[in-house]
Amino acid sequence: MSLIESWPGSAQRWERAKGSLGGGVSTGMRAQMKPHPLYFESGQGAELRDVDGNTYTDYVLGWGPVIIGHAHPHLVETVTRQLPLGQTFGASHDLEYEIAERVLAAIPGMDRVLWSNTGTEADQTALRLARAATGRRRFVKFEGHYHGWSDAMLLGYRPDANGALDRPASRGQNPSALTDVTILPWNDAAAVRAVLTDPDQDIAAVFTEPVLCNSGVLEPAPGFLAELRAICDETGTLLVFDEVITGFRIAHGGGTERYGVTPDLVVLAKAIAGGFPLAALAGRGDLIDEVTRGVVHAGTYNGNPVVLAAAGATLDVLAEPGTYERFEDLGGALATGLASAFSDAGRPAVVRNVGPVVQVIPGTDAAETFTDFTTADWDFYDRLTVELLRRGVFSLPGGRWYLSTAHTAADVERTVAAARDALAAL
Ligand SMILES: Cc1ncc(COP(=O)(O)O)c(C=O)c1O
Repeated sequence: MSLIESWPGSAQRWERAKGSLGGGVSTGMRAQMKPHPLYFESGQGAELRDVDGNTYTDYVLGWGPVIIGHAHPHLVETVTRQLPLGQTFGASHDLEYEIAERVLAAIPGMDRVLWSNTGTEADQTALRLARAATGRRRFVKFEGHYHGWSDAMLLGYRPDANGALDRPASRGQNPSALTDVTILPWNDAAAVRAVLTDPDQDIAAVFTEPVLCNSGVLEPAPGFLAELRAICDETGTLLVFDEVITGFRIAHGGGTERYGVTPDLVVLAKAIAGGFPLAALAGRGDLIDEVTRGVVHAGTYNGNPVVLAAAGATLDVLAEPGTYERFEDLGGALATGLASAFSDAGRPAVVRNVGPVVQVIPGTDAAETFTDFTTADWDFYDRLTVELLRRGVFSLPGGRWYLSTAHTAADVERTVAAARDALAAL
């Protein structure tokens, strides 16, 4: 196996970019990439090419959105047809409701859609609607769940150096945001019941990822989501599924379909437009219609026709027969292969998948809690990602791997062989 020794073109660009871009990157998390951010020239299917001419099998997929692979011909053709018709009208057009109708057809129990550009915005809209509809102020979120980086919601995601979660996550964040949230352990229905049945808590909504993708791809305990639904119904609290990762990925109808529990609001982003900036808040008609009763939902770029054309093409590809069965097979094969590579190398690790989302948690034999996840051996894993990169595998820090419709069983086989070699090198 020939190894990449260094990335001179990327290293040079990284030094230059630090002079003009805040933090040298366009979004802070990308600065974590080891050994330094790489610069890419192009992507095709499951493959990326960097500026040094190296190619990689891509398991980052733009941190999730590129679910039909890079430059899928149907997406390219659809967007190319739309582009000469104009960039944005600042007015109504057919794709707005046509794509909304397709989203509603996919997700059980939803009546209306609000378009936004990012998951962060759609999560904020969900919180505002929940407050307006219930007349309550506070919300529940769970440890390690991520609902975007707004002041109101970037809380309880990662512990600080002292292990504390009840701290603002960012310098400069409004510290009073903490007074409006109760952060609970995931999969603990009794803890939720205790909070929701206390009127002094004044809880408008419970926000949850249906699978805890952001901290270990942990599935809900059997019956947990149904219990959340029941407690919310009993207490007049709204249930919000943040399906920014799971939507159109772990089933066509996301976690809502996969686990058979219907929330009041569903937040979608990432996979929905195949790499273009689109988010949606889907929900019950009476809730979403709060926007006709004084709840402000805004955005210059909302419902952009080029982006919605991309969403239509992405949904066409995802709707092809067998997509989600293939995701299960490929996700299972990658998880099994990586697990055996770790085990054969004598390295403990938990490896699991939910559909095409695979998670490696290194340095432990059990990872059923948020603490198990945050205390795993991430220094070792950072070194592994560099060894994988040297062997043509591009993967995320934090152990999550994404598969697209463009990945094949042969890609997975090659990747598992690269992982064996990388683990042996460590
Ligand atoms: C579950 C979840 N919600 C919300 C967001 C925020 O989405 P965006 O980055 O589009 O603002 C993310 C992003 O990773 C996410 O994983």
